[in-house]
Amino acid sequence: MPERNRADVLTAPRSVALLARRDAMMARHTALTFGRGVAVASELKRWATKYPDLGTGPLPVEPYISPEYAELEREHIFRRVWLNVGRIDDVPTPGSYFVREIAVCGASVLVIHGSDGVIRAFHNVCSHRSNKLVWEERGQCGGYLSCCFHGWTYDLEGKLRGVLDEDNFHEIARERLGLSPLATDTWKGFIFVHFQHEPEETLEEYLGGMTEELADHDLGALHLTFRYDVEERANWKVAIDAQNEIYHLPILGPVHGAFTDILETNEEGCTRFSHFKRFGRHTLWATGGNPDYVPAGVEQLIGAVPITPLELPTNSLFDFYVLFPNMVIAFLPGGMMFTYNFWPQAVDRTVWEIRFHFPKPTDAAELVVQHYRKTQLRDALAEDIAGHQNVYAGLASRAKSEFFLQDEEVQIRSFHASWHELMDGAVAVDGRW
Ligand code: FES
Ligand SMILES: [Fe+2]
Repeated sequence: MPERNRADVLTAPRSVALLARRDAMMARHTALTFGRGVAVASELKRWATKYPDLGTGPLPVEPYISPEYAELEREHIFRRVWLNVGRIDDVPTPGSYFVREIAVCGASVLVIHGSDGVIRAFHNVCSHRSNKLVWEERGQCGGYLSCCFHGWTYDLEGKLRGVLDEDNFHEIARERLGLSPLATDTWKGFIFVHFQHEPEETLEEYLGGMTEELADHDLGALHLTFRYDVEERANWKVAIDAQNEIYHLPILGPVHGAFTDILETNEEGCTRFSHFKRFGRHTLWATGGNPDYVPAGVEQLIGAVPITPLELPTNSLFDFYVLFPNMVIAFLPGGMMFTYNFWPQAVDRTVWEIRFHFPKPTDAAELVVQHYRKTQLRDALAEDIAGHQNVYAGLASRAKSEFFLQDEEVQIRSFHASWHELMDGAVAVDGRW
């Protein structure tokens, strides 16, 4: 069963020892920065040269903190795009189902595996007087779902099958009173839904070049192994922005800093994307490995365990596919995929859904490695959570009206260009975006 934890577990205060280690890292970074001089000029500002349409200016703070923008995003963003709600693994057999509360769309969604093998999504709303139909987060039903208010019953395909005291209704047409379907499609084992009755794009059109990029990779051998749902006190865009850069990697915290050691950095000790690609609204960034890195201690032990061979889509060491607006699919060498979904709850609250996918372990050593990798990444994410919340508090104070991005934060610009494209035509607050 997936393991679930809460935010308070992840956001425990840092120990003095950890803070001391971060100070040491910053000292090292400062030494690198000032000791080695300026990086080669040709390496600087390369993404702005390659993507001049993304601009170089500061971005406004208001869309992160304004309730008016949060309202506009419901219709202009989230009800106009395909949203990933889970994996086929979540509904493996006929009758298995899960419920997804999507606050930003004001909807409860039921995803169910039909007796005909088709996975469908419906509004989780009874056709009688609109009671919530299914209350369990997930489960397995024996062929029918029954409403807990007056007992109307539906089959696995959403058709109305039973009406209590039916002859006492004045008129009722069962064939028109099934559950209300949502557009549903799958890609690479991911289940997507769309809130428009007739989506303006198919899922394939929506994913665009992303499908070609991952076409050769079968992700079916990877299974959900661990899961965290973390509620953050931050706007969802603060959280997704932090997935669109690793400028923060050497500095944010000691666990982040340890990851920096395995990555290729420039002369100043700063990370650099080895790849940055745009696929319509979606993007990929990747990083190369540090050729001088020599694993020691636990890393040496863990690295010695043979990993189930899997052909994963790694352009280099660490690949992040960011699907607009709220999803990340990331790959690490050694057969690990992790996915993030960021779900806005309010302008200042977001649920960060974190899922770790691994091949089925074949022996105890592989199981230990998976737990180790999960724990290692969890600790890094605890630093991220604190970072998101701290940034949001600063933005919400309105101390600043705009913020600044360097060239390695270019992917944030790409995300905001897509956001702006979909939001365009909406009323700007105070005449500003
Ligand atoms: S609301 Fe569901 S049976 Fe009445
Ligand atoms: Fe991070």
